[in-house]
Amino acid sequence: MKVEEYIHSLFTKDDAVLEQVLWSIRANGMRNISVPPEIGKLLTLLVKISGAKEILEIGALGGYSGVCLIRGLGKEGHLTSLELKENFAQLAHENVKKAGFGDRVTYYTGEALNSLEQLEKEQKRFDFIFIDADKENYPNYLEWSIKLANPGALIVGDNVLRGGRVCDNSYIDAQTDYIRAFNERLAKDPKLESIILPIGDGIAIGRVKE
Ligand SMILES: C[S@@+](CC[C@H](N)C(=O)[O-])C[C@H]1O[C@@H](n2cnc3c(N)ncnc32)[C@H](O)[C@@H]1O
Repeated sequence: MKVEEYIHSLFTKDDAVLEQVLWSIRANGMRNISVPPEIGKLLTLLVKISGAKEILEIGALGGYSGVCLIRGLGKEGHLTSLELKENFAQLAHENVKKAGFGDRVTYYTGEALNSLEQLEKEQKRFDFIFIDADKENYPNYLEWSIKLANPGALIVGDNVLRGGRVCDNSYIDAQTDYIRAFNERLAKDPKLESIILPIGDGIAIGRVKE
């Protein structure tokens, strides 16, 4: 048994709500690029441990990670989720409603960079930011996340190892280069303290210093 299978078998269990989300993604002919169950579980735990109240998600798809993030909130708290495609955001909202959290989420649709500018105009600030959208913009999303973060906030990014390609210097590919730049900024920015966990496709966790 591989390490990932071991972790998966021991720490994730059947989850009818999340299964329904995955079913709806397939039923709508969408590619399932939701986070895997162990990353979903980690997101729930990180939100709980951090005590975050205001969460920002960049990349909603069908609402899988959205449900996992809201599950980590206590009775208070809200998710703001950014999604390029109107129909994906609608599906995500339906799924979050089915999970019992319909009034705990707000979607902004269109280019996330425009939505981030809008959030800045609205003077919104967040305690937890999850980045899981187009890889080309990861460095921009990190820049925005630092601007929109409350002191002590967590900034979490998915797919930061790209199947191990980030550490193979002979591998030249634009998306991998953007992720390398994202990881380097996370590691070196004096405003952050960060680490990457090698689970799933690699998950980066940065904390904004107070
Ligand atoms: C990997 S999926 C997100 C999966 C989701 N976080 C989950 O685990 O359930 C990436 C999502 O980002 C969205 N996306 C891609 N480019 C975007 C952009 N420029 N602005 C906003 N959303 C974007 C895609 O439409 C897609 O739904």
